[in-house]
Amino acid sequence: MNQYPVHLKSKLPLVGTTIFTIMSALANEHKAINLSQGFPDFSCKDKLQDLVFKHIKAGHNQYAPMAGLPLLRELLAKKIESCYNHLLNPETEITITAGGTQGIYTAISAFVHKDDEVIVFEPAYDCYVPAILMAGGSPISVPLQFPNYSIDWNYVKKLITAKTKMIVINTPHNPSGKVLKKEDLIALEKITENTDILILSDEVYEHIVFDEVIHESVWRYEKLAKRSIAVYSFGKTYHVTGWKMGYCIAPEYLMKEFRKVHQFLVFSVNTPFQYAIAEYLQESEDYLELNKFYQEKRDFFTSALKESRFEVLPAKGTYFQLLSYKKISKELDTEFAIRLTKEHKIASVPLSVFYKSKEDNQVLRFCFAKGEDTLKKAAEILSKI
Ligand SMILES: Cc1ncc(COP(=O)(O)O)c(C=O)c1O
Repeated sequence: MNQYPVHLKSKLPLVGTTIFTIMSALANEHKAINLSQGFPDFSCKDKLQDLVFKHIKAGHNQYAPMAGLPLLRELLAKKIESCYNHLLNPETEITITAGGTQGIYTAISAFVHKDDEVIVFEPAYDCYVPAILMAGGSPISVPLQFPNYSIDWNYVKKLITAKTKMIVINTPHNPSGKVLKKEDLIALEKITENTDILILSDEVYEHIVFDEVIHESVWRYEKLAKRSIAVYSFGKTYHVTGWKMGYCIAPEYLMKEFRKVHQFLVFSVNTPFQYAIAEYLQESEDYLELNKFYQEKRDFFTSALKESRFEVLPAKGTYFQLLSYKKISKELDTEFAIRLTKEHKIASVPLSVFYKSKEDNQVLRFCFAKGEDTLKKAAEILSKI
C-alpha cells in the first residue's frame, strides 16, 4: 500500500538524511562534543556584523542586480588578481551566488546534459553527485589513493570517454584536508588539452592552507583558466556559513550559460550582505590571516592528541582533521563513530559516507573550527580511548 495520497517517483531515490544531520542529532541527544559539524563555533568580526545592520538600515533591501553588486564584483576581480595573478572582467566573469553550493548546482545544471559523464574524486563533498544526477548525467567515481588521498592521473586518463563533460576537483579537499600540488594541475591541464572537458573547481577553502603550502587555484594555469568554473564561499572565509553567500568565476563564454540558470534558480542574492561584504573587502584583507588562524587550531588539536592511540593523518588545508582508529578497533567506521558519540560523548563523521562504494579505511573526520576549550576537551577524551 502506498503511504502517500499521491504516487511519487523520487528523482533522488537513494538520497536520504545526510550523515551530518544524523551525527549532529546524535550529538545533541547524548550531549556530546560536536566535531562533526563543518562550521565554526565562533563569530565573525564585529565590524562585518555592523556593516550588515548599516546596509539594512540604509535601505539596501531590494533585489540586487542579477549577477551581483558591481562594486563587490570589481573588488573580487582585484582580489583574484592579487592572489592568483589572473585578470578578470567583473562585468562578465563573476557572479555572486547563495553560497558555494548554489554555484556548484548551477554550474552542473548549466553544462551537464543527459548521459554526460562527470568525473568525481572520492571521498567527495556530498553535493556534487546529486546535482549530476538531477541533470541526467552519470557520475564516474575515482578513488583518491589512501592514505595520502592523492590522484592517480593515469587512471583518470583511462576513464575519459567521448561522453566526459566535466571533471570536478576540490582543493583544499573536504573531507581529507588534501591540497593539490602544481604537478596535479599540470596533469589535469595535459589530460584535458584538446578536449571539450570542463573543470568545476571547488575552491571554497582557498584561504585555509597550512605549512607554507600554496593554494593551486585553476586561475594560476592559463590553459585550465579557459575551461574552468570555480566556486568560492564567503561563509568559509569570514566564519559566516549561515549567510550562504559565495561567488562563481568563469570565462565569459561559460559565465553566459551559468547566468542563464542562475537567473531562474535565485535571480539574485541577498542585497545588504553584498553591500556589507563589499565595504569590508575595501577595508580589510583579513582573509590573509586565515591560514595562520586555522593552522594554530590544527596544531593545537593534533599536539593535544600526541599520547592518543588515534593516528593523525596529514592535513594541509581545510578545517578538518582525519584520525585513523585502526589501532583501537576493527569496527566499521559508521559503528565506531556512533559508539564514540554515545559512549565517549564526542561526535565525528565516518569517512565511508563520502564514497559511493562506502570504502572504509577506519578513518573519522573531526572539525577543528572550534574554540580552544572545546578542542582541549575533545583531545582529552580521545586520548583516553
Ligand atoms: C568542499 C565544499 N564545497 C562547498 C561547500 C558549500 O559551501 P557553502 O556553505 O558556501 O554553500 C562546502 C561546505 O561545507 C564544502 O565543504
